[in-house]
Amino acid sequence: MKLDVVILAAGKGTRMNSNLPKVLHRIGGCSMLEHVINAAEKLGNTCLHLVIGYGGEQIKQHIASLSNGGSINWAIQEPQLGTGHAVQQTTSALNSDNKNNLVLVLYGDVPLIKTITLEKLLGQANAETLSLLTLITDEPTGFGRIIRGDDNAITAIVEEKDASVEQKQIKEINSGIMAIPTVKLVRWLGEIENHNAQGEYYLTDIVAMAARENCKIVAAVIEDGFEIQGVNYKSQLASLERHYQMNKVDDLLAAGVTLRDPARVDIRGELEVGKDVEIDINAIFEGEVVLGNGVVVGANVIIKSSVIGDGSVILPGSNIDGGVIGRNVSIGPYARIRPGTVLKDDVKIGNFVETKNAIIGKGSKASHLAYIGDAELGKNVNIGAGAIVCNYDGVNKHKTSIGSNVFVGSNSVLVAPVELADNTFIAAGSTINRDVPADNLAIGRGKQRNIPGWKRPVKK
Ligand code: UD1
Ligand code: CA
Repeated sequence: MKLDVVILAAGKGTRMNSNLPKVLHRIGGCSMLEHVINAAEKLGNTCLHLVIGYGGEQIKQHIASLSNGGSINWAIQEPQLGTGHAVQQTTSALNSDNKNNLVLVLYGDVPLIKTITLEKLLGQANAETLSLLTLITDEPTGFGRIIRGDDNAITAIVEEKDASVEQKQIKEINSGIMAIPTVKLVRWLGEIENHNAQGEYYLTDIVAMAARENCKIVAAVIEDGFEIQGVNYKSQLASLERHYQMNKVDDLLAAGVTLRDPARVDIRGELEVGKDVEIDINAIFEGEVVLGNGVVVGANVIIKSSVIGDGSVILPGSNIDGGVIGRNVSIGPYARIRPGTVLKDDVKIGNFVETKNAIIGKGSKASHLAYIGDAELGKNVNIGAGAIVCNYDGVNKHKTSIGSNVFVGSNSVLVAPVELADNTFIAAGSTINRDVPADNLAIGRGKQRNIPGWKRPVKK
């Protein structure tokens, strides 16, 4: 039996002071909505319904760009008349053939909810039981309060704006996340009204309806308030970002990583680590990154979607994107490794060297100030300072092939397409646009003339 998950994401998020729909703001590199969808999908066998309104097209485009964004039921809520009205927009699409069908309601702006918590909530729900996720907090202001009767049974939820002075003292709050028997939900939604302080159709009103007909209402009381923290302001987005990063960092420390300062590392994706990894301050990891055993990441390094082999060292200020890096490689300081770069074992890429779409063989070196693009290099090649591969003729990209044990002198220009065979030697300052056969020295530069007695120009 499929579980219907309704994710509310129609609100504009006015208080974010941004043109971007609220649920598209990011935490740890992923939109809040993506976090919620991922948490829901891990439940397995779900049918996702997304209620959109403000910025709906932008949200659809964003979801289409996600790997798991294919199978969503869209519900448009226009105008936005409250959370109950929002859920109402999905009722025709809900599975209600069986009395045991359940609906799980999630919020697109409550991004840190965990699958394990949802499982707990769902474990308590059934055809006769409404299950709420609540929190006991010293700062209940702004939230709906859980009203309990004499026997401690839940009788209603009262919104902040409708609450009496006494009700405002209640410390148990509604997270908004709930699991509801579908058949009852559809009936209750048909009966809710908007006679309240905000003139909205509140989803929370179904709780009093359930209580009136003696439907069981249970609460799963959550401990980590961050899991149900909603984002209304940029300050809350920032605080959830920090909390999210702190959790990521705790995992790294538990895995034995040495972090010079756990508060100054950002993980915007998935970071997999081997043993004895060291990470200095202000390192940023994006997408899927794998660091092998003993990898050292220097200060201010950014690594995106890359694999770094055992024993390799990334020196400060380097930027690696889409690289496959072998063992005992040294990169930087201030190197830029771009997509399609494969560095074999023992390669050295020094300061101000840029590589793109380049396969660089074992033990080869480019120690200073070079560009290597659309090229394949053999073993033990030495690229001199200032050497440039001209891969682009202004219209098309061409390939450069360099064999093993090649020496490319400083400030040489290799005009692609061109091939330097094994053991070739390029004199410094050469422009090479013809292939060089094995074991040749190539000199491609204007001859030097010395003019004796040269008089410098004089100022008029
Ligand atoms: C809601 C709950 C409150 C709970 C709080 C937790 C109701 C009536 N109140 O209040 O009990 O403590 O969340 O954060 O449910 N949305 C729509 N369409 C609408 C209105 C809202 O899609 O017409 C979406 C919003 O985009 C947002 C979510 O529903 O993702 C919550 O809406 P919001 O207005 O923030 O509800 P709260 O007043 O915070
Ligand atoms: Ca809210």
